[in-house]
Amino acid sequence: MARFDGRVAVITGAGSGIGRALAYDLARRGARLALSDVDEVGLAATVAGCHDLDADVEGWRVDVADRGAMRRHVTDVVDRFGVVHLVFNNAGISIVADATEQTLEDLDRVLGVNLQGVLHGSQLFLPHLIASGDGHLVNISSVFGLLTIPTQSAYHASKFAVRGYTEALAVEMAVNGTPVQVHCVHPGGIATAIAANATVAAGRDRDGFVDLFAKVARTSPEDAAAIILRGVERGRTRILVGADAWFLHLLTQLLGSRYQRLVRWLGVRTLRQLDRKAEEAAAARGATGEVRAG
Ligand SMILES: NC(=O)c1ccc[n+]([C@@H]2O[C@H](COP(=O)([O-])OP(=O)(O)OC[C@H]3O[C@@H](n4cnc5c(N)ncnc54)[C@H](O)[C@@H]3O)[C@@H](O)[C@H]2O)c1
Repeated sequence: MARFDGRVAVITGAGSGIGRALAYDLARRGARLALSDVDEVGLAATVAGCHDLDADVEGWRVDVADRGAMRRHVTDVVDRFGVVHLVFNNAGISIVADATEQTLEDLDRVLGVNLQGVLHGSQLFLPHLIASGDGHLVNISSVFGLLTIPTQSAYHASKFAVRGYTEALAVEMAVNGTPVQVHCVHPGGIATAIAANATVAAGRDRDGFVDLFAKVARTSPEDAAAIILRGVERGRTRILVGADAWFLHLLTQLLGSRYQRLVRWLGVRTLRQLDRKAEEAAAARGATGEVRAG
């Protein structure tokens, strides 16, 4: 069983959601924390929360997509703490757009954070995890690294790639007897700010998407953090977070690639629902306008 007390844990994207919940949970378990985020306000709040929990903690503004910044971050963390036992490559962004609606720049941005960010954090911290003699690399993929739905091709490209890289690394470490356990995390819907912060293609109903996400994101970030840490403690290579993640995982196991037929059927229904809601909202706005005008 992995332990966290006194261990140095690096968390990217620690200014919100799952990253913040991981920081608080690890702080309660006595870990020492190297936190980072591009959002300095969110990061400062997490650092303050960890101070309140009496943790040894330091925060840095770091863009995980920026290779130079990540190199400097690794040096800063090692200078400050001397050792690194756990790395949680958690920072992530989302986009809602069909492939025909997104630009190559959109793809670069999503892959820059969600994939390159994970590769930077993994490759650059790996020598230090190995040197610790008992390292854990925890990469956050998604249930969308297990199956696909419409409007998420960029996100899927990043999360399937994170899964491929992470699973290969886990096998390599085990085969070579390298003292690092590697974990790939697949959260289902977690109630965080990720949908509210998403890039949504022009002309799409942003509010409808955020409402839909609020309905399906049934796991709290705190529960997600506890599940992730339990998976790390138990040495699980694949960590599924939430009943929805388990359900979708089992569905793909059961149906193989035939799950796509089901997604097609559900996708059409969901699109119709969203269209109907958008029309209702537009009609309600029109009605309010008439009353005001009158
Ligand atoms: N919330 C979900 O339903 C869900 C489901 C599956 C996977 N995930 C994954 O979980 C991880 C955490 O997401 P969350 O739900 O807590 O979202 P969140 O938006 O609440 O938190 C993400 C954090 O990452 C930070 N970030 C964004 N770009 C960054 C960059 N370039 N460099 C450094 N930090 C950056 C943001 O500022 C934010 O603080 C992400 O990788 C996400 O893809 C989330």
